[in-house]
Amino acid sequence: MTTATTPTTAKSHVGTAHTRVEGRDKVTGAARYAGEIPFAELAHGWLVLSTVARGRIRSVESEPVLAMPGVLTVLDHHNAPRVETDYVGMLGVRPDPTCALFQHDRVPHRGWPVALVVAETSEQAREAAEALVVHYEEEPHDVAFRGEHPDAYPADGFMPAVTDKGDLESELAASAVVLDAEYTTPEEHHNPMEPHAATARWDGGRLDVVDSNQGATWVVGELAKMFSLDLGAVRVRSEHVGGGFGSKGVRVHQVAAVMAATVLQRPVRVVLTRRQMFSLAGYRSPTTQRVRLGADADGRLHALEHHSTSLTSTVHEFVEPSAGVARVMYDADAHHTANRVVRLDVPTPTWMRAPGEAPGSFALESALDELAVKCGLDPIELRLRNEPDKGPVSGLPFSSRNLRACFEEGARRFGWADRDPRPGTRREGRWLLGTGTAAASFGAGALPSTAVVTAQADGTFTVRIAAADIGTGARTALTLVAADALQVTPERVRVRIGDSDFGPAGIAGGSMGTRSWAWAILMAADELRERLALSADIPPEGITVRSDTTAAVGALAQKERHSFGAQFAEVAVDVTTGEVRVRRMLGVFAAGRIVNPLTARNQLVGGMIWGISMALHEEAVRDHASGGHVGADLAGYHVATHADVPVVEADWVDDPDPDDPVGIKGVGEIGIVGAAAAIANAVWHATGVRHRNLPIRPDRVLLAGAQDGAAPQAAGAGAGAGAGGGRGASTATGAGGPGTGARDA
Ligand code: MOS
Repeated sequence: MTTATTPTTAKSHVGTAHTRVEGRDKVTGAARYAGEIPFAELAHGWLVLSTVARGRIRSVESEPVLAMPGVLTVLDHHNAPRVETDYVGMLGVRPDPTCALFQHDRVPHRGWPVALVVAETSEQAREAAEALVVHYEEEPHDVAFRGEHPDAYPADGFMPAVTDKGDLESELAASAVVLDAEYTTPEEHHNPMEPHAATARWDGGRLDVVDSNQGATWVVGELAKMFSLDLGAVRVRSEHVGGGFGSKGVRVHQVAAVMAATVLQRPVRVVLTRRQMFSLAGYRSPTTQRVRLGADADGRLHALEHHSTSLTSTVHEFVEPSAGVARVMYDADAHHTANRVVRLDVPTPTWMRAPGEAPGSFALESALDELAVKCGLDPIELRLRNEPDKGPVSGLPFSSRNLRACFEEGARRFGWADRDPRPGTRREGRWLLGTGTAAASFGAGALPSTAVVTAQADGTFTVRIAAADIGTGARTALTLVAADALQVTPERVRVRIGDSDFGPAGIAGGSMGTRSWAWAILMAADELRERLALSADIPPEGITVRSDTTAAVGALAQKERHSFGAQFAEVAVDVTTGEVRVRRMLGVFAAGRIVNPLTARNQLVGGMIWGISMALHEEAVRDHASGGHVGADLAGYHVATHADVPVVEADWVDDPDPDDPVGIKGVGEIGIVGAAAAIANAVWHATGVRHRNLPIRPDRVLLAGAQDGAAPQAAGAGAGAGAGGGRGASTATGAGGPGTGARDA
């Protein structure tokens, strides 16, 4: 027995920069990911995906493949175990039937999983899977997304489809300045560095799954329901996860691995290829958004309408809730928002970093910029004049809303005061230069979680929680939170995560992970410290306290809870080649208490870089004839790389959440929100050409420059209004001449 620890430090570690506690393991290769952990008798499954976009499977020619070297089985809809899909999961939604593999012969989209070939080695499985002949009965398909699709309908998803306050048409008619514009964003894909991978095995009557996911508890719940098992009969581990971005929930790879492990009674691993991820990992739906704004001459909004249409599959309704951002950001006497979806013969989209807010903020924050031009107002001033004092739709008070502080600090650091508002007037050689800004927001919630904290006899502490560190630095942040709560140095705290046996915990999603888990750890650590104060000795087995935040989280006062931010970008546009280069970016955020500045900055900057990618590069193109992608890989799908990324700075203002025990709000997603709009607004400032369709490709810059030059428009209220640009084209607003200048460059 040793003496109970006395506090070695009262210093706060929360708020100070710490490198990742598992950083050395990761850079030396000691950290093992789901697809790398060895198992005796491991077999390998390889998925076979449909080559038609719609129809039925007529036959699966398994016999020749079963004779190939090493092949153990071929699972398809004839012989796969049956699974249950009639349930509501941990996140309050029904499962995407895509995960219910091989239950019928219908093919609802190209890239639909039709068979799993399992073999002794991964190479044998792949060889056999590629040799497997599947015959289909093809039916006509529709993969052509357009906002005005006649089959689009209002859909709720995680929020009501429609909000409706006041008489929009009469407020628009009475407004001195009106903006009516349509914005589009393309299909975008989250492809984390580590592909989806799972190994499943039966271990003494328990299903044991080593996986790469954003929440072990979540995956346990879904697998237990699907395979009709008790929760306690399923264990999911995911110690290290190489990125998720919303794509790493329950997907086909886990289900395929469990099916094969059950049939073969040996461990089976299923890893998605990069190309398969484009069909099976989910993605962000394309959107078509219409924004109508009506303001008085001072820029005060009287009418706001934000309608968004996205797509979903024919088998599952997922809504990209882009109009939701308007429900938080701006109020107006007449305030209408709606999210609609259309079902097409495509894979189901899913959450992707800042679902709703990322595309929604592109439309809304571009529209605000256009309105500022029409009103002759600075775009920051326009936003500050329209700061709501309560939730525009909810009517609830904000827990805190420090958007003004973000803009003030951001403007100071970016040098906004010196900005000449006229577009198309700054030239540096062949480049036209411009700056732009946009606001950002993202919800700040918390999910119930449990944590276990143990004081060991040697004076160290172990925290166990089913958290997922998907690259966010959560493990390190939680170490700092635990150290402060236990009043010891971080070196004496070991945080173990990624194991469902540690008890239920929330997901690494919705920017809620670190906050939810920190709350549970704090609660357990506080109680442990009280227990230690009462006992002089720690027994050899240690002293353990378990917490559960369900009641505490449920008691959160009803308020609008969000992080906010101000994005700034400077761009250079070469109008002879159409190239847009971002020269610098600054984001200033009010995102709660920052636990670890090093990894929080990494999160925010990562989101902002993704905003560059969204603004200028990313676009998944679907071939309407085949129903599949053109170039479904990281050669064909263009993302921002080092050469595209300039100095990107992220910082924050003091903004502790008053209702959170640590003050956390969450930083996972807000970095991308508003980033694309800030860049598009800067492109307008550089060239005088408004780009309402992402990405701002060179051909669009060239085409828009030519169009603009042909029809220069005068500045001032009413100029260049309208959705007339339509898809694939842009109309000019603002001062006359810049387009001409652009063409002359
Ligand atoms: Mo985030 S899109 O909730 O992983």
